[in-house]
Amino acid sequence: MDNLKKKYSIVNSQSSIVRVGVFVCDCGSNIAGVVDVPAVVEYSKGLPGVVFADEGKWSCSVDALADMQESIKEQNLNRVVIASCTPRTHEPLFKQTVKEAGLNPYLLEFVSIREQVSWVHMGVPEEATQKAKDLVKMGVAKAILLEEGEEIRLPVGKDCLIIGGGMAGMSAALNIADQGFNAYLVEKSDALGGILNQVLTVTHDHIKMPAANIVKAKRELVDAHPNIHVYTNAEIASVEGYIGNYKVVLNANGDQADLNISTVIVATGMRQIEPEKGAFQYGNDPRVVTQLQLEGMLKRGELSDAKDVVIINCVGSKNEERGCCSIGCHVSVKNAQILKALNKDRNVHILYRDLSMVKNEQIHLQGAKGTGVKFIRFPDSRYPEVAQGEAGLSVNVHDILLGREIEIPADLIVLTVGFTGDETMDDVRGLLKVSANSEGFFQERHIKLGPLDFPADGVSLCGCAKNPKTLKESCEEGIGAAMRTSIPMKNGFIEADGIVAEIDLSLCNSCSICWKRCPYGAIKVGEDKRPEVIKALCKGCGLCAADCPKECITIVHYTDEQLLAQVEAALEENPDKKILGFVCHWCALGGVDMAGVSRLQYPTNGRLIRVMCSARVPIKLIERAYELGAGGVLVAGCEFPTCHYITGNYACESRIKRAKKKLAKKGYDADNLWLTWCSAADGPKFANVMRDMVKELGLSK
Ligand code: FES
Repeated sequence: MDNLKKKYSIVNSQSSIVRVGVFVCDCGSNIAGVVDVPAVVEYSKGLPGVVFADEGKWSCSVDALADMQESIKEQNLNRVVIASCTPRTHEPLFKQTVKEAGLNPYLLEFVSIREQVSWVHMGVPEEATQKAKDLVKMGVAKAILLEEGEEIRLPVGKDCLIIGGGMAGMSAALNIADQGFNAYLVEKSDALGGILNQVLTVTHDHIKMPAANIVKAKRELVDAHPNIHVYTNAEIASVEGYIGNYKVVLNANGDQADLNISTVIVATGMRQIEPEKGAFQYGNDPRVVTQLQLEGMLKRGELSDAKDVVIINCVGSKNEERGCCSIGCHVSVKNAQILKALNKDRNVHILYRDLSMVKNEQIHLQGAKGTGVKFIRFPDSRYPEVAQGEAGLSVNVHDILLGREIEIPADLIVLTVGFTGDETMDDVRGLLKVSANSEGFFQERHIKLGPLDFPADGVSLCGCAKNPKTLKESCEEGIGAAMRTSIPMKNGFIEADGIVAEIDLSLCNSCSICWKRCPYGAIKVGEDKRPEVIKALCKGCGLCAADCPKECITIVHYTDEQLLAQVEAALEENPDKKILGFVCHWCALGGVDMAGVSRLQYPTNGRLIRVMCSARVPIKLIERAYELGAGGVLVAGCEFPTCHYITGNYACESRIKRAKKKLAKKGYDADNLWLTWCSAADGPKFANVMRDMVKELGLSK
């Protein structure tokens, strides 16, 4: 403690005496049931700079927030540390609260003692309380050094670019246009409609609801709307700029169009994943087709003589590489019903692993059974086999219910395959500087908090560009994305987050690393070769700051000094028993939170520091942790290629390799530095990493 007092001046660089208030939440019994909250409060009172500490039953309740505002005013607090749940859900609320109390929201620091402590260390209350104290100490150490920040206000006009003219894109365009804004709808093919143009029907009744009629009705609305400008056979040549100020160049039907755009909606749709040649005799025998090919055959009326049809579900899905294809069960049941409706004497089998159908689709499942469609469940590990014999095709399947193999003759085999992002996806990704996930779809900002947004302000996504969807879901998302982008257009401005890079040009030697590595092109250089941050483009990932050899770039709210203060506070006592972790705010912290939500229990050794991206972690902080005797150092970020800052995790990976070499040269054990990639849903992975580190680095002794 004395070290800390010596180390951190409680007069900050803005020459005001720092007065930190610490608010520790019980979260009912969620935290207080494990952590000794009164002890944490008492401990907080002794930390340097802390003038006030209090316990709250439910700190996020309306009454508690009002009390907090009172305390901020009464105690004249100019820094606030909240120790409660995860910042991923509650930080905006507390930021708003301190702002309303007259405090700059950048003077708030958030400490997670629920997801990172009480929920994951339930059987060891003493150790959990000690960890909670450490995390509060780290939070206070950073809070002392916090500086005021400010949002960046940008003007936003009324022109929206919609990339993709499928059902989601058309729905978005209509909604944008109905609100009085201009919609520029860009479609790569010669007709609007997207993947629905390849489909016979969207419901289980092929006569009542032909897909072509739905497309036609929507297209007529689009064509008739005066605020919608449609470009078909169009390709986007370039996109420059940021929200409120995009310059877009299009090539459409041989002509070039230059557009000034304020917001963008990505609705590029999806494409079918071609099965491997030879798998289930696909590519060897023309009678083995995919669902989408079947739709084409149905549309062309080519199925009159197929007597025995076997549908095989989950082809290429639900394995280690890909999850559920989302719509396969629905599509297989729909098409089975149509096959029977066209010829009731036709034998139709659906071979499946699990049937994932939502409530209102169950009616169709029963309907299919009622028409005589046979359902056979096979084990996950034993996919059916297709054989070509003299008599024709046959399918050998292990029927779980019968407990034995059966053979089914087939005139036609239909494979229910998965989907991936449309073929324009990589181009669009590069143009807009947005992220994709491991299944080849675009990655939303946050699965719950920003499901229709990209991290870049003013750019939304919807429909099958995100993952496979039904028609209804696509249209709903198109409208949702339109609503998201219309908010800044309606306001006429946007306030962007002030977590951005700042360059001290007095130290800069114009080496060019920063602007060459910035994933967003947010650093420009003039003729004098001096870099300048375009704040509207900067997303605050910190890649430039961590790689700057002159250390002249800093990130607002995540400065080197603030991160260093957290490192030193974390390792002040018993460093050899601790794992100092840097976790990115997005997937890695999501994984940490998921471990908490799932109540996965793991050792208490971790002391985590939040950074926006794994790319923010400079080698010098890792070295400092080693110097201080950390038992282990962990850097955790998003899985490839899902970094929310496009290339941040790639930059991190190569930096960690350099760090290991440097550490080894200095005589440290580089194996104590671990790197892990974790999805926001992968709580078990994070918990396992902590267990493995403790075990392999011998930290439990
Ligand atoms: Fe997670 Fe970049 S945001 S690694």
